[in-house]
Amino acid sequence: MAIDLQWLERVIERRKKETGEEGVRLHPPAMVKEVLDFLRVREKEEGVFVDMTVGTGGHALAILQANPKVTVIGIDRDAASLEVAAERLADYADRVTLIHGDMRDIQRLLGQVGIDRVDGCLIDPGLSLWQIDSKRGFSFLDDAPLDMRMDQSSQLTAQSLLQTLSADELEHLFFQAGERRSDARRIAQTIVKERNRSGGIPTARALAELIVQVKGVRGGRIHPATKVFLALRMAVNEEIDSLRVGILESSKVLKRGGRFVVLTYQSLEDKTVKETFAALAQPLKEGEERPMLTILTKDPIRPSYQERRQNPRSRSCKLRAAERIR
Ligand SMILES: C[S@@+](CC[C@H](N)C(=O)[O-])C[C@H]1O[C@@H](n2cnc3c(N)ncnc32)[C@H](O)[C@@H]1O
Repeated sequence: MAIDLQWLERVIERRKKETGEEGVRLHPPAMVKEVLDFLRVREKEEGVFVDMTVGTGGHALAILQANPKVTVIGIDRDAASLEVAAERLADYADRVTLIHGDMRDIQRLLGQVGIDRVDGCLIDPGLSLWQIDSKRGFSFLDDAPLDMRMDQSSQLTAQSLLQTLSADELEHLFFQAGERRSDARRIAQTIVKERNRSGGIPTARALAELIVQVKGVRGGRIHPATKVFLALRMAVNEEIDSLRVGILESSKVLKRGGRFVVLTYQSLEDKTVKETFAALAQPLKEGEERPMLTILTKDPIRPSYQERRQNPRSRSCKLRAAERIR
């Protein structure tokens, strides 16, 4: 336990250095050059691009700056992130529309602003650094309840999952996110024991400390609670379903020749993108000779060495791209 607190203090110090007094970070967008190139942003005489996970607006800003003739529709399910994006993109307000919503509803959301076809879609899913700092229980350091909702108007929280799932269900959730089976079981059983004893786990920090007690500290930069936090966050926000449905739905609004770019940061996400692209690259119905998409990246593209050095968080990023051909 003592070791863990020292470890946490070091992380807090590192974060303070990164963020200054405010303690809030803008998310550095990953693989910007590659995103712009695959979307062919600079080549357009005019065009509409949808940033389906606009976050705090890093990629959107890059698109707007790369070509003064294009417009951007930015969607995010996190209303507070959109406020930050709006401020950041204020100089381009005449070419940006920001919409609060889930990318799975892209057709309806675009319909609200009178658009039915677009030139390109970008998906950069998961969590932004800004959200990690937003005290919703995403961070191991948060003395805040385990909320973990990206969309504060949705119902399910991580706290409610921890209170209601059985030990078997929790074990399955953690195992799916990559936790070793034996650790997943011990963590799940400890959580159930703790909620029976004290009524529940009050904060994100308390959960992180509980997991350290179960697993111990194994060294390295990865916190022992990483996979459990990932599992809870992904379940609360239905992240894999969002990604799959988001790709399927946005393929319907792309013009012929329009392109998709999807960035992912972990293997479950990348597998989902690969499989969903592959399904759309098959002829779908009888009599349809041509598939809907052609895949532009046989293998995913990775950030350059220079980018990985400058932005270590980009290290796990993979980019896949496809083009609508029918
Ligand atoms: C990694 S951040 C995006 C960062 C952004 N590209 C930038 O450069 O600032 C991911 C964003 O996706 C949003 N998000 C995740 N799932 C979503 C969904 N199903 N629909 C809309 N937004 C979603 C999150 O709220 C978060 O703001």
